[in-house]
Amino acid sequence: MPAISRRTADLGTENAFVVLAEVTALLRQGRDVISFCIGQPDFATPAHIQDAAIEAIRDGRHGYTPSAGIDALREAAAHYLGRMRGVAVAPDEVVVGAGAKPFIAYSILSTTDYGVGDEVIYPNPGFPIYESQIKAHGAVPVPLPLREARNFAFDPADLEARLSPRTKLLILNSPHNPTGGILARKDLEDIAAILRRHPAVWVYADEIYSRLCYEGEFASIASLPGMYERTIICDGASKTWAMTGWRLGFASNPVLAPQFVRWVTNTDSCASQITQWAAVQAINGPQDEAEAMRASFIERRDLIVRLLNDAPGVTCKTPGGAFYAWPNVTEACRMIGAADSEEFRKRLLHEAGVAVLADIHFGARVPGEGQHVRFSYAASPQAIEAGVARMADFIRKNTRRAA
Ligand SMILES: Cc1ncc(COP(=O)(O)O)c(C=O)c1O
Repeated sequence: MPAISRRTADLGTENAFVVLAEVTALLRQGRDVISFCIGQPDFATPAHIQDAAIEAIRDGRHGYTPSAGIDALREAAAHYLGRMRGVAVAPDEVVVGAGAKPFIAYSILSTTDYGVGDEVIYPNPGFPIYESQIKAHGAVPVPLPLREARNFAFDPADLEARLSPRTKLLILNSPHNPTGGILARKDLEDIAAILRRHPAVWVYADEIYSRLCYEGEFASIASLPGMYERTIICDGASKTWAMTGWRLGFASNPVLAPQFVRWVTNTDSCASQITQWAAVQAINGPQDEAEAMRASFIERRDLIVRLLNDAPGVTCKTPGGAFYAWPNVTEACRMIGAADSEEFRKRLLHEAGVAVLADIHFGARVPGEGQHVRFSYAASPQAIEAGVARMADFIRKNTRRAA
């Protein structure tokens, strides 16, 4: 039998999809499971965006496009990215992709070489694809610990300690998956001050949740002096307009855009033309539905944080953005005799029918930071109330048993 490559054998994954398969199997067996696993808005894509896609199909606008994307979308995305961040982004600095995700790989591939010790610093906990892509492309992953005491921002001193002549790329993600933390302007200023002493380091600003920022104004590292040229800004349609399955993201950088275009030609050829026309409408059309979704996420955030903080042995900071809550369950684990958050998660799923993700699905646990699980609160208020009530009952019942 021919062998598979070591690179593929060792390839990481996004455990949300693994747990989702577990949940689907339980549902198929007739089990009642309330799921908080999947990171996608639970809304329909707004009708005017759907209509733009249907019109594109009917008009015959469904063939290949240039790898960089259609002009109308590059122009709309350039204006959109620039306006939100207070920088001038030119359309030819923008590249369109099949989601925001591919730009993680394109950025690592464009800034590091294979197997020579090039390092990439990334947030831990963090979106698991950062680490798996860094490793798959032969670079060295350097996790940057996030601190609960800093509302899940990192300590700038921790960043400074990890930068070296080998560092090629720093990945930032704000608002953040999985903690919901945001990098405030002051945090970004501290980071920029450090980066000015390390001019050879690129920055990947994963800003896919930019429109889901609830505490103060969204801020981007790209808007700080000297940062735009070295920052890859990545945003997209998935989270803002409930378009996860449409697959549409865009990234900008004046130097790297032409390199990304070649990567797109080498991988997807182009994003779906139909989706690109829908995205033009998403960006340029009315924003009231996107705003209504955002308002709904804020209500649900407030609900889930209140309920989680009422659950025994659970504390939860109020996340500043995205649609994730990252409660600390260290005490709850102790109360029910669970060795860690992963055992807690498994028992919660199988004994109480509540599906969440554990901290280890987002990187190695940070020493001294305790045990956490992730709730995606892109779920109905009824599901949030029922799910957290089940979790509280589960902890109470098992505490009695453990006692
Ligand atoms: C931090 C982060 N970056 C990127 C993505 C991928 O976005 P897309 O679906 O547009 O590829 C996600 C999706 O969950 C995410 O959480």
